[in-house]
Amino acid sequence: MNTPLFNTTLSFGKLKAHAKTASAWQMRNLFAGETNRFGSLSVSAAGLFLDYSKNRMTGDTVSLLMELARECRVEEKREAMFNGAEFNNTEHRAVLHTALRTPKSETVLFEGQNVIPDIHAVLERVEAFTRRIHSGDWTGYTGERITDVINIGIGGSDLGPHMVCRALRPWQRDDIRVHFVSNVDGHDLDAVLQKIRPESSLFIVASKTFTTLETMLNANTARNWFLKSGTEAGLPKHFVAISTNAEAVSAFGIHTDNMFPFWDWVGGRYSVWSAIGLSVALAVGYDHFAAFLAGAYAMDTHFRHAALEVNMPVILALVGIWNRNFLDYPSVSIAPYLQDLSHFPSYLQQLEMESNGKRVTKAGEPVTWHTSPVVWGNVGTNGQHAYFQLLHQGTDITPIDFITALKPSHTLPGHHAALLANCFAQSEALMLGKTADEVRADLQAQNMAPDEIEFQIPHRTFPGNRPTNTILMNSLRPESLGALVALYEHKTFVQGAIWDVNPFDQWGVELGKVLARTIQAELESDVSHNHDSSTAGLIQLAKAALK
Ligand code: F6P
Repeated sequence: MNTPLFNTTLSFGKLKAHAKTASAWQMRNLFAGETNRFGSLSVSAAGLFLDYSKNRMTGDTVSLLMELARECRVEEKREAMFNGAEFNNTEHRAVLHTALRTPKSETVLFEGQNVIPDIHAVLERVEAFTRRIHSGDWTGYTGERITDVINIGIGGSDLGPHMVCRALRPWQRDDIRVHFVSNVDGHDLDAVLQKIRPESSLFIVASKTFTTLETMLNANTARNWFLKSGTEAGLPKHFVAISTNAEAVSAFGIHTDNMFPFWDWVGGRYSVWSAIGLSVALAVGYDHFAAFLAGAYAMDTHFRHAALEVNMPVILALVGIWNRNFLDYPSVSIAPYLQDLSHFPSYLQQLEMESNGKRVTKAGEPVTWHTSPVVWGNVGTNGQHAYFQLLHQGTDITPIDFITALKPSHTLPGHHAALLANCFAQSEALMLGKTADEVRADLQAQNMAPDEIEFQIPHRTFPGNRPTNTILMNSLRPESLGALVALYEHKTFVQGAIWDVNPFDQWGVELGKVLARTIQAELESDVSHNHDSSTAGLIQLAKAALK
């Protein structure tokens, strides 16, 4: 598909000129001048509501951004993705994670074959296995029920299911505990092994490639731990695998009857909808996992069919492009005002930064524009008491996505109003700021001495005009979570389409992996390789300590 490069589009030039004008805008004035700004710069879809009115933009900005999306052929690229085109052009793969949440009655063709029957066959196995564990029909090798499930995986084989299990905590079953081990740091696995017994534990080795060093080392250590009291014959009752690599799973010693497959057209960071979600189904029940998929499907349907102007993922992506490429903001902060979404910022870090943290176009030419911003964040209100100082008064401007639910899942009085009040107050404060005159009037009302007032004013003045989005859902449920995750997946896709990068490969993580293998050999033996003096010095210090 031949598309003009981002910065050669007509709309890019227009947006650059428009951004010069926008640099003089104050959002507080934009709100004062447009009574229906909230109504015109907000959109609903799949049970979510996005308010993007607190951005430094007007209706004209939105129109120009829509032109940009059309010039970059977002609509055609979107359709191509849903139809199984080879979107991941460096690995020569289709990108069909959306098929994973498509109902059984529909057809999704990949190379002329309908993939839906295979997907649902695996989902049915996930469901049957989940029900066997929950009913006690599947037991450990001594006949004990499984009470602890340990998902061993990293990156997309950890962050997705871990984030979802945490988010769906109110649905967590009482009779099962789900643990996540990802880090090669032995303290991670050790902490879990201290809490479990082999007879009642099920290890899920989750790895798309089944070659990832961290996961393989953790899985091997877990197997050795199991074999200290268990038997080889008992292993199949305690180890299952989720992977695309049947050969490596067999070589590890897990029979393929105990392997839940997925496909190479599912990127790791897009895989929570596949059998990688087994730990979610075990934690909260298969029906809730199915509801999570249904929520994503509702967002897919919206994304695929809604006009760009009312398309939530497209709008979220374009607002991000405006902030990143035209107003030049280098990072984005994610602020879920929901404790159960505490893992969502880390999840989005992989989704957005591993996808769009790229420096060449799909054709391999260096990009001459910024791609993914740094994505970071933490739950509110905690962040307010840590880094929000910088967000309000620091020298960098950081757009923020506030995410919250109108209704809580608990019944504790007073807490939810306090939470929502803080969430809304932060975006209001970031937008409005506080002028010197307002500070002066406040301090005069407190009878502060005039000299002291003048000294205090610069410290207590807030520039405001700082952009935020607010995403609301009625309550955090499996369906709304599915829609939320799919919203950000599609946002990432649209941004990748506009930046003309491949969001579905991740070559940037390879170099470190190769070097780590060399260094590990040096730490564990007498071999040595040439390194810069810093790396060589660090290796020597570690070798001395490890002796
Ligand atoms: O190294 C990065 C990465 O390949 C991620 O993209 C992926 O999610 C993670 O490692 C884990 O990979 P796997 O599921 O193959 O173990």
